[in-house]
Amino acid sequence: MVAINKYVLGASMVGTFFGASVLLKDYVGGGVCPSKAKIEGKTVIVTGANTGIGKETALELARRGGRIIMACRDMGKCENAAREVRGKTLNHNVFAKHLDLASTKSIKEFAKNILKEEHHIDVLINNAAVMRCPHWKTEDGFEMQFGVNHLGHFLLTNLLLDRLKESGQSRIINVSSLAHIVGEIDFQDLNWEKKKYDTKAAYCQSKLANVLFTNELAKRLQGTGVTVNSLHPGVADTELGRHTGMHQSAFSSTVLGEIYSILE
Ligand SMILES: NC(=O)c1ccc[n+]([C@@H]2O[C@H](COP(=O)([O-])OP(=O)(O)OC[C@H]3O[C@@H](n4cnc5c(N)ncnc54)[C@H](OP(=O)(O)O)[C@@H]3O)[C@@H](O)[C@H]2O)c1
Repeated sequence: MVAINKYVLGASMVGTFFGASVLLKDYVGGGVCPSKAKIEGKTVIVTGANTGIGKETALELARRGGRIIMACRDMGKCENAAREVRGKTLNHNVFAKHLDLASTKSIKEFAKNILKEEHHIDVLINNAAVMRCPHWKTEDGFEMQFGVNHLGHFLLTNLLLDRLKESGQSRIINVSSLAHIVGEIDFQDLNWEKKKYDTKAAYCQSKLANVLFTNELAKRLQGTGVTVNSLHPGVADTELGRHTGMHQSAFSSTVLGEIYSILE
């Protein structure tokens, strides 16, 4: 009798945990965009577009008729993703371009080519990110998550800003995360050189930097026709959790990684 009760209790706890997890996942997963707007003639740049949210964004905007520039660091993955998007949407204005946000040299080269080739840029979607990686540095010596997620996009945006302004009603969209709410900016040690590295806090700091950058830039661009917004995309099952050690788990490492970044 006691054994049966233990069994029932255990099963009920497991059931409650999974039920609550599914409800939480649905809640944080966000809603569905109701817009059916077409974007023919608009040029859109999406960083980190070879997988995850960036690839889905490129796919949806290609479906709506945009000229899509998929900006990625791995050209093999980028060409494959661009081919897939062209195949699924029959939109041939989808291009793969090299951009490594962990290298200011690469960012400058990318921006130089874009400014040479694109007469207008209507939407810049700063989407790429790395989450909870080891204590890596960018090519220029910045802590990797701050370097890629914030500094890389900061430089890219500023290099393209004049063209965005000239293009009229253009948009800058910075993909942040709910994790920004527990983020803190350590202005004395942005680069994690004086304190012990905390990979979760470094991700949250980088995502808070996305929001602060957005708010300040939006203020500075008032009256120029360029709008700047940041967003939390909802929790989606992507490759973002690849450094969390739970990447192969059935219940998405990304979902758990993002939730743990906030709750831990
Ligand atoms: N998924 C979620 O639940 C969730 C929740 C909140 C916020 N977000 C945000 O959503 C955005 C997209 O994330 P995701 O979930 O789609 O992640 P993902 O599947 O891991 O995709 C991240 C993208 O960023 C690229 N990237 C990483 N380092 C780069 C670098 N140095 N230069 C250029 N590109 C680089 C990756 O390229 P490689 O494939 O070559 O590494 C990949 O294309 C991120 O800003 C993330 O913070 C996601």
